[in-house]
Amino acid sequence: MTEAILLVGGKGTRLRPLTVHTPKPMVPAAGVPFLTHQLARARAAGVEHIVLATSYLAEVFEPYFGDGSALGLHLEYVTEQEPLGTGGAIRNVAPRLHSAPDDPVLIFNGDILTGLDIAALVGTHRTSGADVSLHLTRVEDPRAFGLVPTDDTGRVTAFLEKPQTPEEIVTDQINAGAYVFNRSVIDTIPAGRPVSVERETFPGLLADGAHLQGMVDSTYWLDLGTPQAFVRGSADLVLGRAPSPAVPGRCGDRLILETAEVATDAKLTGGTVVGPRTVIGAGAEIDGSAVLDGAVIAPGARIRDSLIGAGAHIGARTVLDGAVIGDGARIGPDNELRDGIRIWCDADIPAGAVRFSSDQ
Ligand code: GDD
Ligand code: MG
Repeated sequence: MTEAILLVGGKGTRLRPLTVHTPKPMVPAAGVPFLTHQLARARAAGVEHIVLATSYLAEVFEPYFGDGSALGLHLEYVTEQEPLGTGGAIRNVAPRLHSAPDDPVLIFNGDILTGLDIAALVGTHRTSGADVSLHLTRVEDPRAFGLVPTDDTGRVTAFLEKPQTPEEIVTDQINAGAYVFNRSVIDTIPAGRPVSVERETFPGLLADGAHLQGMVDSTYWLDLGTPQAFVRGSADLVLGRAPSPAVPGRCGDRLILETAEVATDAKLTGGTVVGPRTVIGAGAEIDGSAVLDGAVIAPGARIRDSLIGAGAHIGARTVLDGAVIGDGARIGPDNELRDGIRIWCDADIPAGAVRFSSDQ
């Protein structure tokens, strides 16, 4: 049985303020910590043993997931004293693996929402006889990713992490953040120091003539590293566009968690999720957004493509569009917040203080 490593130690800087109190994989998407979806999908593909490589806010994972038995998994946790980077994190958990040298081990970035056929990736790995296999996807703008050109047999010819110059943009195929490594390859990563699998291990393996195989597909794929992507991913889970066995309810236009109080004339659409203990006031309209635990939305607020942190208050008639509101922040009535604005945790914005339009 194939085992897996999940990389969940990043600081989630681009997702702040959502990651101030919560590591990225524990921010709720469609009502449960995002990591739950990845764990459930791995379990559904037959994976039973998963080692979580933790670093930033490492202490919150185990109290929530425990030994993993609630998900039918055997989970283990390994915490880095200092962040070891992606490759260092993989090497650091190697002592917990049970696989023999020639066995395939799955490795996942902890912030990817995808419909990847995990068994097909392992199958490609076996039939191609590769040392490492990588899931690849095509994106319009590859600059924020690892570029992975392949030859006509799918063999990887180069790995260019976050290309800086136009000449480096040689393909629209990117590293989708899921790998199969032969166990013996993991053991060759240097131990005890930071290593980037993207900048050091993959280029080094290619230079040594190792066989890296790419599997490109066109299934759903999203890196939830930014607030806008995270909101999109959560809504796509609720709508059923992104597949997960862990959505706590039936997929559809909205997901209302138990203990949420929603006014009968509030309108929730576009994959909106309202978490436990939330209160949604009369006439509020919420589209494509995520309202986390205990947040309060006052009557008449209009919210689109936004993320409302735990315990935040949104005042009456306030308009949010593409906004991120940190945990515990209070936005007074009649504000208008748009276009990627980030309101920090516990901030307090008075009534009518921020407008984009001149009307009020
Ligand atoms: N344990 C541990 N320790 N985990 C880490 C560390 C670390 O020091 N640094 C990063 N991670 C984890 C993150 O938590 C995340 O799950 C994963 O490694 C990738 O880190 P990101 O910070 O999200 O990287 P990225 O999105 O800029 O780029 C990566 O993902 C792209 C696909 O989304 C690269 O793998 C790119 O090549 C790839 O295209
Ligand atoms: Mg990422």
